[in-house]
Amino acid sequence: MYCLTVSSLNQIPWNELRERARNSTSSSYAPYSNVHVGAAGYTTDGRFVTGANVENASYGLTLCAECSLVSDLIRLGGGRLAAVAIVAGDLEPIAPCGRCRQLLFEHGGGGLLIDNGPDKAPFHLHDLLPHAFGPDDLGVRRTK
Ligand code: THU
Repeated sequence: MYCLTVSSLNQIPWNELRERARNSTSSSYAPYSNVHVGAAGYTTDGRFVTGANVENASYGLTLCAECSLVSDLIRLGGGRLAAVAIVAGDLEPIAPCGRCRQLLFEHGGGGLLIDNGPDKAPFHLHDLLPHAFGPDDLGVRRTK
């Protein structure tokens, strides 16, 4: 498979990524909080994946939008995430919650870019989750 290496910020289609995150809010199931979260990811080989939050009557079992994004990634062939945009409510960017930082780290590592809006530089995941625990700590090597 042809593989585009995403090595610079400019290679990320930020506007399309944000648009896909916004569109994904319409797939959200959030009858309890009414906070409809959408997430979109761009892979290092140039594919998009998306997700939306899925709440549960047992509140603590709620799945965040990033959780369904990661499921989408694996279900649609795997690969590595290069950039992620997450939006909520007013469709402006939000930072991923703590649990989701760990979920995203598994599939994008510390270099994963997290959208911070069109006027601000994106975050690197290693700044949001420093000294992260991950597959390397278990001696697990990724196969793809
Ligand atoms: N939520 C996400 O989907 N992602 C986050 O990173 C933060 C929170 C969802 C969970 C819940 O359905 C709603 O936002 C309110 O917390």
